[in-house]
Amino acid sequence: MTTALWIVVDHAVALLSVATWFAAGVTLALRRTRLALALLVAAVLVTLVRVVTVAMLAGRGWWFVQEKVLLGLPMLGAAGAVAALLAGPHLLSARRGQGDGWSAGGVVSVLTAGYAALAGLVVTFLVGHPLTVSTVLITTSVVCTAALLTARVVAPPGENTADAGAAQASEGRRPMSRRRFIGWTGGAVVVTAAGAGSGMSFLPADSVTLGGGPGRSSRATVSVADLRGSGTPAPDGTVRRYVLTAKKATVRLPSGREIDAWTYNGQVPGPAIIATQGDLIEVRLRNADIDGGVTLHWHGYDVPCGEDGAPGVTQLTVRPGADFLYRFRADQVGTYWYHTHHASHVGVRSGLYGTLVVKPRDGQRADEYTAADQVDLTLPVHTFDGTVVIADRDGQTEHLAPPGTPVRLRLINTDSKSHRIVLAGTRFQLAAVDGRDLNQPGEVSDVGLHLPAGGRHDLVFLMPDTSVALAVDDDRDGGLRLHPHGDAHGEARIEDTSGLPELDLLRYGAPVAAPFDTRDADRHFTMVLDRGMAMVDGRPAYAHTINGRGHPSIPDQIVANGDLVRFTVVNRSLETHPWHLHGHSLLILSRDGKPSIGSPLWMDTFDVRPGEKWEVAFRATNPGIWMNHCHNLPHAHQGMMLRLRYDGVTTPFDGPRGGSPGHDH
Ligand code: C2O
Ligand code: CU
Repeated sequence: MTTALWIVVDHAVALLSVATWFAAGVTLALRRTRLALALLVAAVLVTLVRVVTVAMLAGRGWWFVQEKVLLGLPMLGAAGAVAALLAGPHLLSARRGQGDGWSAGGVVSVLTAGYAALAGLVVTFLVGHPLTVSTVLITTSVVCTAALLTARVVAPPGENTADAGAAQASEGRRPMSRRRFIGWTGGAVVVTAAGAGSGMSFLPADSVTLGGGPGRSSRATVSVADLRGSGTPAPDGTVRRYVLTAKKATVRLPSGREIDAWTYNGQVPGPAIIATQGDLIEVRLRNADIDGGVTLHWHGYDVPCGEDGAPGVTQLTVRPGADFLYRFRADQVGTYWYHTHHASHVGVRSGLYGTLVVKPRDGQRADEYTAADQVDLTLPVHTFDGTVVIADRDGQTEHLAPPGTPVRLRLINTDSKSHRIVLAGTRFQLAAVDGRDLNQPGEVSDVGLHLPAGGRHDLVFLMPDTSVALAVDDDRDGGLRLHPHGDAHGEARIEDTSGLPELDLLRYGAPVAAPFDTRDADRHFTMVLDRGMAMVDGRPAYAHTINGRGHPSIPDQIVANGDLVRFTVVNRSLETHPWHLHGHSLLILSRDGKPSIGSPLWMDTFDVRPGEKWEVAFRATNPGIWMNHCHNLPHAHQGMMLRLRYDGVTTPFDGPRGGSPGHDH
């Protein structure tokens, strides 16, 4: 059973335990003896089952159960045991015909078990991992308060007390009854604990985390504003200049559909940026009328930090009328893309994206290839209001590719959700992932490719003399068709592809020795992804959290230049999180403890599905301050984003709000 399934089962059992404890309490209060006894037995059994589900989850990792093991279960276990001991005997004798089974202690304790069960569930949903002392104090106080109030209602002080009448007669000069005394001291303890817990929750968080490495050195600092790209191409390279103007435009798709888009140069995708390795790429970004502002982020391209396009971190947002010049050497070969990084959950979805392809310098210049040599298609996949647009077309696209032509399809997922890619009608190789070539990628067919949000897959094959079809998300009507001869329209109907197995990239291609020994990492950071209550941009929100916090209240991860850094990314939530670090490519070590055994797999965006645990590593050789976030962009906007900061690097762009890029994602 998968971890995600255990998470769901555990949620269900937890909910059931809340229901059974409350039902037992209420029926007992109503003196429905037989039903109450049955429900009490059920509640105890469900609670025992809960121990099993938590134990199973614990086997998958401490992150999945910490708050359950340290707080939820002990609290419920204690309350449940007391309830069974207080209510059980009365109910059993009632069953034998003695009394009605009711007792004040029984009712209060069974309902308290209900409160404890509910509190545990609420903590799991609102707080999650890591559990803090403040959460423990607040939760236990709330449960105790509920118990005390229930006791007051079920057995009000004064009632049943021998001295009640006498007390009234002596005008308040009576000694305090025992029940009253317990009530007052209990109340005082509870209030103190709740106060302390709430106070602690306002303690400021650490601003940095060191991942087990040394603290900050005192050496000279450098500003990201000075970490800019080179001014010259390689000796045999050229300068590739582009001007990209961000503006609103109505874009007409081939189907006739019109979309109100935010564009670079009035088109979606924006102008394709193509270079040959060693060229200098120089892009002037202007903003015509995008009110909130825009930037250009080179997704997956390890540019110098000052060129990274992270507003509030590496530059100021480019407001209407302003501009910014990006310049970097195209040293990295492969398939990449660019997009705005300001409020990108809106901007990218609306069309502020384009492609960046750098071809190897193998004697031919990038723009000298002709259709006769090869077919090389760059295919960003983007969804506008439910319509899938591949490159600049919706519906089905047809291409001519004579038999024997080398074909390369560069798929780029510019959406916030993953896409499933199927290539039918030929065997092919997945030559590159996220721009990096794989080692000895074997030929495959009849497989589905899982393309994470932000990710890229390069598919290569020699054109057969029959048609080839590319389907996105198993849609048989859309996608792409390649025909060996010009007259094949309508050919290449494809079968239902939804049942094809998914290619596991961790077992694809051939291994080579790792470039570093990942066992002795200098720093190790764990990121536990979840949902919960957290501060996001200064407001409490039901956020997407990292280690229980939301951006910008998540401590920066500090590294030093040259460090070997390891990340453990754990997904406690029931949504997929495409994890993306700027400025570095990450070597995938393992998923759910199973090592990567195929080709070395370097990714800049990897999908951490519900319940999964990924281990990745990289060498920190690109100084700067880098965003590290979920590439489901609404998630990032709702808190799932932090910064990786090299020791000694500062930014002049983080305004009065203490490093917050605010609503800039
Ligand atoms: Cu493609 Cu921070 O993003
Ligand atoms: Cu996410």
